[in-house]
Amino acid sequence: MRQSSASVVLGLAWFAVQVAAAGTPVLVPRASTTITPITVTGNAFYQGSERFYIRGVDYQPGGGTGVESDPIANASSCERDIPYFTKLGINTIRVYAVDNSVNHDTCMNALAAAGIYLILDTDTSKYSLNRNDPAQSYNSVYLQSVFATIDEFANYPNTLAFLSGNEVINNASNTNCAPYVKAVTRDMKQYIGSRGYRSIPVGYSAADVAQNQQLMAEYMNCGTNDQRSDFYAINDYSWCDPSSFTTSGWDTLVQNYTGYGIPLFMSEYGCITNTRTFQEVSALYNTEMTGVFSGGLVYEYSQEGNGYGLVTISGDTVTPNSDFTYLQSAYAAQANPTGNGGASSTSAASTCPTQSSEWDVANDDLPAIPAAAEKYMTTGAGTGPGLNGPGSQEAGNAETESTGTASAGSGTVTETATSSSKKSDGVRIPAFDFQAFSVVVAVLFSMAGGMALL
Ligand SMILES: *[C@@H]1O[C@H](CO)[C@@H](O)[C@H](O)[C@H]1NC(C)=O
Ligand SMILES: *[C@@H]1O[C@H](CO)[C@@H](O)[C@H](O)[C@H]1NC(C)=O
Ligand SMILES: *[C@@H]1O[C@H](CO)[C@@H](O)[C@H](O)[C@H]1NC(C)=O
Repeated sequence: MRQSSASVVLGLAWFAVQVAAAGTPVLVPRASTTITPITVTGNAFYQGSERFYIRGVDYQPGGGTGVESDPIANASSCERDIPYFTKLGINTIRVYAVDNSVNHDTCMNALAAAGIYLILDTDTSKYSLNRNDPAQSYNSVYLQSVFATIDEFANYPNTLAFLSGNEVINNASNTNCAPYVKAVTRDMKQYIGSRGYRSIPVGYSAADVAQNQQLMAEYMNCGTNDQRSDFYAINDYSWCDPSSFTTSGWDTLVQNYTGYGIPLFMSEYGCITNTRTFQEVSALYNTEMTGVFSGGLVYEYSQEGNGYGLVTISGDTVTPNSDFTYLQSAYAAQANPTGNGGASSTSAASTCPTQSSEWDVANDDLPAIPAAAEKYMTTGAGTGPGLNGPGSQEAGNAETESTGTASAGSGTVTETATSSSKKSDGVRIPAFDFQAFSVVVAVLFSMAGGMALL
C-alpha cells in the first residue's frame, strides 16, 4: 500500500536526476502541475471536457473535538493516509478546518500526485459565523481569515472548491442566518475574482433539515450572478443499508432537485445504523441520479468519537474497518455513466423563496460587505490568524461589522445605507460543530430506522 507514494517520490527523483544530467539547473517541477483544475458548466463539474464526479471522503483526523488540527499541514499524516485514499479509489477529500498561517505545499502536491482534489471549508471553529448572532459575527475579522485561507489555497490546481459554511442553519428555527451565509459566499467569489485567481467554485454545505434544506438551495441560487453560489452541497444520511433508491427516499430527493441550475453533491453521506455496505454508491453514480447529483463524500475517513470512521488511526498506524473494504468495492463496481450523465449545460437561476413560517428571511437584500473588509479586495488579506488566533465571533463592532445592505441585482457589495451597528451580549455558540450535528442526525435516523422496523 505504501508503494504508490514511494513511486511518486522515485518518479520525482528520477526527473531531478535527468534534468541534472542534462546540465540545466535542477528545478524539480511541482508534481501538482499535471492535475487539471475542475470547472463548472451548467449543473455539473468538468475536468477538461470530461464530466467530473466527486468520489470522496471527509477528512479531519482528530475531528472538531478539543484543539483543531490541520491534517494537510502535516506531511507525515498525509503521507500516512494518501495510500489509503488511493486504495479506496477516491478523487477528492473534504477538509473542515485548516491553519491558514502555514504552508501546504507538501500535502497539496502529494495529493495532486495521487490525483486527489481538495474541497475546503474556509471556516474554523474560532473564525466562523455564529448562528445565534449572525450580524455581529459577519465582520471584517472573520472575512480576513476566510480570505487568507483563499490566498493560501487558490494557487493549487487541485483545490476543487471552497465551502463558505457548514450547517450554519441546523434547525427549523435559524433560517435568519441565510443572508449572512449568502453574503459570505458572495464576498468569497468577489475576492477570488478581485485577486485574479482562477474561478474556484464557492458554495455552502447544508444540514439535513427537512423544513429548509431545499429552500436554502433555492436561496443560494437566486438573484444576480455575483450573488448566486457556484454549487450547493447537502449532508444526507437518509440511505441506511440495507436500502434502495426508493426506500431511502433518494428518488424523491432527485425529483425535488430536478432542474436545479448549479452542481449539487453530497458533502456528507453514509448512515451508520447498520453495517455500511455502501449500496448507495450504485445509485449515486448511476444515471438515475447523475442528471442532478455530481457524486459525494463519505463521512468520514477516520474513526472519531461519533463512530463514522472508515479507518482507525493510532499514531502512524492505519487500520481499515470493515466498511472501508465495502466502500472500496462499491466504488470499484460502479463506473461513472458514459457521456455527460444527463447533465444540463445551462445554469438556470432559482426563484428566491418568500418569507414563511419555515423561511425567516424578509426580502432578497443581503448585508453589504463590512467596509473594513472591502479593502482586502485590492490589498489582499495578508497573513491568516491560524487556528489559535483570538477568534472572530465576538469581534463585531462599529468598525468591523456591516452597516448597510446591498440590494439584489445591484451587482455591488458597496455599502448603500448606514444603520447603527448593534452589539448584543448573548451567549455565543459556534456554528462549527459538524460532528455534534452528525451525531444528532445519526441518532435521529437510528430512531427512524428502528421505528420503520416495528
Ligand atoms: C503529524 O502527524 C503525526 C502522525 O503521523 C503525529 O504523530 C504528529 O504529532 C503530527 N504533528 C503535528 C505537528 O501535528
Ligand atoms: C430547534 O429549534 C427549536 C425551536 O424552534 C428548539 O426548541 C430546539 O431546541 C432547537 N433544536 C436544536 C437542536 O437546536
Ligand atoms: C421533497 O419535497 C417534498 C415537497 O416539498 C417534501 O415534503 C419532501 O420532504 C422532499 N423530500 C426530500 C427527500 O427532499
